[in-house]
Amino acid sequence: MRLDIISIFPEYFGPLDVSLIGKARERGTLDVRVHQLRDWAHDVHKTVDDTPYGGGPGMVMKPEVWGEAIDAVAGDGAPRMIVPTPSGRPFTQELAQELAGEPWLLFACGRYEGIDSRVMDEYATRLRVDEVSIGDYVLAGGEVAVLVMVEAIGRLLPGVLGNAQSAVDDSFAPGSMRNLVEGPVYTKPPVWRGREVPPVLLSGHHGKVARWRRDEALRRTVRNRPELAAALDPETLDKHDRKL
Ligand code: ADE
Repeated sequence: MRLDIISIFPEYFGPLDVSLIGKARERGTLDVRVHQLRDWAHDVHKTVDDTPYGGGPGMVMKPEVWGEAIDAVAGDGAPRMIVPTPSGRPFTQELAQELAGEPWLLFACGRYEGIDSRVMDEYATRLRVDEVSIGDYVLAGGEVAVLVMVEAIGRLLPGVLGNAQSAVDDSFAPGSMRNLVEGPVYTKPPVWRGREVPPVLLSGHHGKVARWRRDEALRRTVRNRPELAAALDPETLDKHDRKL
């Protein structure tokens, strides 16, 4: 998968050199290219922003600079363009799965009050453009949101996770974990500071372990994410779940 990221702070993306994503880049599974937006600004100050029409606080990113940058990076190709913004559609595990199936993503990181809206309108005529939010809070810019999305997407690519089953058992994964968060996990030793690992996990009985894990996922979802629990489709619950 090819990923292009355009930002005025390319140094934010250092973490993409390490861990799972760094290894995927070394192996060639991921081709990440980070671009400095200011390279397409032509005045001596490399200006990328200006005051908003209609007044108000803050600055808006200029369309000409973004237009040149996106034209140069996309060329004649058709990457799917993602614009991180708190006013976008929610980034979910489902969207991460969908984006993991794309061959080429282009992330356009806004700062300040955002990018002149004509940029998204213009490229929506020839690319698929999504404005995406990673949560209901406001960051100083899109860079951290892109790091979040790239990590969530990257770990779903074939061969990136050591154990492909991990992604299947994840919280929110499509299938039996849809709208559920994962329950607690344990490792050795069997007793730590007097606290025992739930005995069923030591039983070697796969059916009972699977049942316990599902019960715990449901319990945690009810406790920590009541809105998700309320939205669970009764059709996805089995007769054992219904007793909870
Ligand atoms: N930029 C600023 N806040 C953001 C958010 N919550 N999600 C995505 N991009 C952002």
